[in-house]
Amino acid sequence: MPIISAFCKKGGVGKTTFLGYLAHYHATQGKTVLVISADDQNSIFKIFGVDNFVNDRDDDFFEHLLVGEKQPQDITFEARINMYLMKTLNTDRLSLNLTLKRSEEKHLRQIIESFNQYFDYIFIDFPPSSSRLSEILLDISQSILIVVGLDTLGLQGFSNTIQYFVDTDIDLAKIKYVVPVGYIKGRRAPIKCLKDLKDQAKMLTPNAIITTPVKDKAEIKNIQTEGISIFDNQPMKDRFHQKNFDEIKKDLISIFKEINLD
Ligand SMILES: Nc1ncnc2c1ncn2[C@@H]1O[C@H](COP(=O)(O)OP(=O)(O)O)[C@@H](O)[C@H]1O
Ligand SMILES: [Mg+2]
Repeated sequence: MPIISAFCKKGGVGKTTFLGYLAHYHATQGKTVLVISADDQNSIFKIFGVDNFVNDRDDDFFEHLLVGEKQPQDITFEARINMYLMKTLNTDRLSLNLTLKRSEEKHLRQIIESFNQYFDYIFIDFPPSSSRLSEILLDISQSILIVVGLDTLGLQGFSNTIQYFVDTDIDLAKIKYVVPVGYIKGRRAPIKCLKDLKDQAKMLTPNAIITTPVKDKAEIKNIQTEGISIFDNQPMKDRFHQKNFDEIKKDLISIFKEINLD
């Protein structure tokens, strides 16, 4: 059961979107997947239009698993066929506990490893902030995808991320892919950023594969506000253009095929 994480120390670059669609795509291919949201904002739930799950049961904390007050199924929701989402809340408090008590850290690792029997893949969605919880979850990941926005701040986010890995002693070799997001054909700035990113990655993460960049597509934002996933097999509403969606889907699938999860 490989654990795949999407991380970057910069918010709003498209981590949750990319990871969510990657997970949903594999679910549509017959795999059973779990997405653990390590982000208190739980925005993965919004992307799939199921944020009522988060709001309705706001007393469900990931830390309850640790003390045995809750079972995994109590904080897991089937958002789509074969795709489950697990929320967290109060991760700062959880992080503090993990910092103070080594036994809790061990227990957390064991709990996640025990999911092995239920899922083909576990995906973890991170907040841009870092905490002891993030360190542990990154450490148990087999593959980490660094999602990088193709602008100056995005590039800064990439180098900050590498710095963070070095500072916290997380193995840089776990970074298997760098995923650039925000490519606009014919626009000079993102093309230049992509080139700079490739130069930086060659130095900092020489073993990571840089995927084909994800295009900047306003339609993604639009369907997310409706709670529709690009991999939902339903005709798009009239005000969305089916052709655009088919194109986004095709581009994403070809990028997903560059990523070996196993
Ligand atoms: N390829 C894309 N093109 C255009 N907008 C995107 C793309 N990917 C994500 N977005 C939008 O950008 C915003 C931030 O995306 P999100 O995945 O939540 O980023 P992060 O998890 O890094 O904070 C969201 O409104 C999302 O709809
Ligand atoms: Mg996010």
